[in-house]
Amino acid sequence: MILITGGAGFIGSNFVLHLLNNEAVSEKILVLDNLTYAGNMSNLSAISSNANFNFEKCDINNALALKEIIRRYKPRAVIHFAAESHVDRSIKGPSKFIETNITGTFNLLEASYEYFLTLDNGTNNTKKSGAQITKKQFRFLHVSTDEVYGSLEPNEPGFSENHPYKPNSPYAASKASSDFLVRAWNKTYNLPTLISNCSNNFGPYQFPEKLIPLVILNAMDHHAIPIYGDGKQIRDWLYVEDHCRALFLILDKGVIGETYNIGGNCEFQNIELVKKICLILNDLLPLKDSAKITQYHELIQFIDDRPGHDKRYAVDNQKLKNAFSWKPRETLFSGLKKTVQWYIDNLDWVKSIKNNSYKSWMKENYSKSFKKGENESS
Ligand code: NAD
Ligand code: DAU
Repeated sequence: MILITGGAGFIGSNFVLHLLNNEAVSEKILVLDNLTYAGNMSNLSAISSNANFNFEKCDINNALALKEIIRRYKPRAVIHFAAESHVDRSIKGPSKFIETNITGTFNLLEASYEYFLTLDNGTNNTKKSGAQITKKQFRFLHVSTDEVYGSLEPNEPGFSENHPYKPNSPYAASKASSDFLVRAWNKTYNLPTLISNCSNNFGPYQFPEKLIPLVILNAMDHHAIPIYGDGKQIRDWLYVEDHCRALFLILDKGVIGETYNIGGNCEFQNIELVKKICLILNDLLPLKDSAKITQYHELIQFIDDRPGHDKRYAVDNQKLKNAFSWKPRETLFSGLKKTVQWYIDNLDWVKSIKNNSYKSWMKENYSKSFKKGENESS
């Protein structure tokens, strides 16, 4: 049994689908998720009838419930995706980020450690403790972000695992804190932890508050495409399935107590990226003659910058490559094409996401920036 927190969110659900469809994993999977605005059971509908799939709705801020679930399911590994994940929301309301990303991770570490202590050392009769697995087999994989390292200057090398932590947003600071907690539970209590720090993901099921799906959906609705500041900020993009493959390798072969950085070697300025999406849309969803625009890029609007906006992220993924011969399979172009096509093909999913809570977030974050009427969600 593998326990996956946040498995109904973007990367978590892609990871669950990847495990059950590609890694020939014959063991059970338990998704533990509180189904916040970002969690969606329909992300998992393709495997919900799989006999190996289990789900528990649980808030990682509920320490007692977490302990009870872990005791009951006896996982051989915990993979921790659950988090508040959007930088702009962390700027508008940081307290949820402190609660879920820091205290929630602490609760999960405590519950995992309490359970870990009940596991057999591997030398005695395992029936005695009632546990199926040994301490030696147990792993806790914490899924984190490259944002903990802060922002790079134009010519600086990418973030290595030894780069100092300099988080700039409340989100990044909360993830940095959670990384430190995970590290401490390994160093102090010998909990067998692993940490991964990944760059910007994109792909199917990403909630359309993040740049790529937001651009695709706004463009499909012929609404303005918002670019913060001058659009020259740089991100290192990775197709989500490449991230999932890396996580599976780290879980399987990673050295306990180590950190692995994951990145796409794929740096682009936001404005370049957005123009690429517009070109792909021109091709995959040609505009009708009656449309008010002739090309999607005409929808681009530069708006006020994000406070504390990190200028550049880039990840040095040499350690991961050397250790596991991992490399991304998708290029930015091939991944973007798949992603745009996925949103075009999944309008029911899109419709279900664009509920009142989504509309009020869009209003709260963008209404002052756009010219009147240009950011209304359909
Ligand atoms: P997401 O926002 O799409 O999903 C988060 C999931 O966690 C949702 O299913 C949500 O319901 C669940 N969740 C939130 N609070 C919870 C709580 N209190 N209890 C239980 N479940 C809760 O996020 P994502 O983009 O899939 O990111 C997943 C993880 O990967 C996060 O930890 C994030 O920091 C990290 N990460 C994301 C990226 C990226 O580009 N998206 C890159 C690197 C690392
Ligand atoms: O680097 C990994 C991180 O990537 C993850 O840890 C976060 O969970 C994930 O949200 C992402 O953070 P970013 O802030 O980089 O992603 P976002 O999609 O919000 O923004 C990408 C870039 O696009 C960033 O420079 C801000 C800019 N942007 C974003 C939005 C939503 C815009 O210009 N306009 C927008 O409307």
